[in-house]
Amino acid sequence: GLPARVRIYEVGARDGLQNEKAIVPVEVKAEFIRRLAAAGLGTIEATSFVHPKWVPQLADAEQLMPLLDGLGVGPGGTNGSDSSTGDAAAREGAHGGAGTTGTSPLGANPARTSPVGTSPAGTSPVGIGRASASTAGADGAGGVRLPVLVPNERGVDRALALGVRDIAVFGSATESFAKANLNRTVDEALAMFAPVIAKAAGAGARVRGYLSMCFGDPWEGPVPIARVADISRRLLDLGCDELSLGDTIGVATPGHVSALLTTLNEAGVPTDRIGVHFHDTYGQALANTLAALQHGVTTVDASAGGLGGCPYAKSATGNLATEDLVWMLHGLGIDTGVDLGRLTATSVWMADQLGRPSPSRTVRALSHK
Ligand code: HMG
Ligand code: MG
Repeated sequence: GLPARVRIYEVGARDGLQNEKAIVPVEVKAEFIRRLAAAGLGTIEATSFVHPKWVPQLADAEQLMPLLDGLGVGPGGTNGSDSSTGDAAAREGAHGGAGTTGTSPLGANPARTSPVGTSPAGTSPVGIGRASASTAGADGAGGVRLPVLVPNERGVDRALALGVRDIAVFGSATESFAKANLNRTVDEALAMFAPVIAKAAGAGARVRGYLSMCFGDPWEGPVPIARVADISRRLLDLGCDELSLGDTIGVATPGHVSALLTTLNEAGVPTDRIGVHFHDTYGQALANTLAALQHGVTTVDASAGGLGGCPYAKSATGNLATEDLVWMLHGLGIDTGVDLGRLTATSVWMADQLGRPSPSRTVRALSHK
């Protein structure tokens, strides 16, 4: 059967924005996250503490986290430290990062064109209640969780210094992507994560382990399920509290999802520690999600408005849109805690900020009444 409740792990502010070439002002990012929280999302990935040249868009992590003070879990929210200790390299990256030569196909591909500012005005929010940012989820029991990506010790130090309580490391099932995304082999990347995870756990932070290219890889083609199961096991053995299985390029289909989850189950990976992370390149993300739910998965990653990639570029699309996910889940009678009207209004607002409409079918349907 299907679960009664699904935890949505919102990645729009990180995975969604990391591909935007034009730097989004840090205040807009903070407001986006506040509105997502006000719409009822309990887990909102905020940013990445990576090298600013690799992902220039997220080079303002030190500036962003203090703006979310009071929103996150724990006393004082995400942050209780002095923001004046912000990383100098990160600040430099925030102002001069565009056009640098990162080689990540996800974060810093200089070949990716941005339509920001070139498209007609964003869609109208008519008919949808506007999110009230001032009420943003901070009043709930303990507030929202605001995880951040960290690749290495430098990253976890930067994050912990800001009071972050949830981190995510990000490994790869393929050598090609490990090299492109982390400048490491798969084994070297896992070795790089070991002290990161230990440090985070020692500080009482929760650790998620992303695993990219679980289904197909742009350089290597189909990815063997046994390989994904092996690296999943190794990430858990390093101390990750949960895994997120990434279909980075969106090539998975439901039978493949089902086969992978069956193998993971046989390999002793507990289903309640597995999340799924689908990109919607081939329009399969919702079908894949349903297959995962049927296997008992209850954590699903999604991006508000389907942010991510570029809707005008052939090669790249965003994550599964959170609105499309919520529409399906609520239709199935599955609880999410999300107010779909408020969430849609948030994505319409964000689309206005970016200067192009949301690619989410549900956002379009609900905002064109
Ligand atoms: P590297 O060049 O091998 O780094 O990159 P290094 O360890 O040799 O260090 C080089 C310099 O970078 C040093 O400075 C370090 O201090 C600095 P220098 O001494 O030369 O002045 N440095 C840092 N600065 C700030 N913060 C840091 C940091 N680390 C080193 N954390 C590295 C290795 C991992 C740093 C680089 O490859 C990197 O930052 N990669 C990030 C790529 C990324 O963010 N990709 C997108 C996220 S993954 C994703 O989107 C997939 C996902 O959505 C799931 C899915 O869809 O599959 C999660
Ligand atoms: Mg992703």
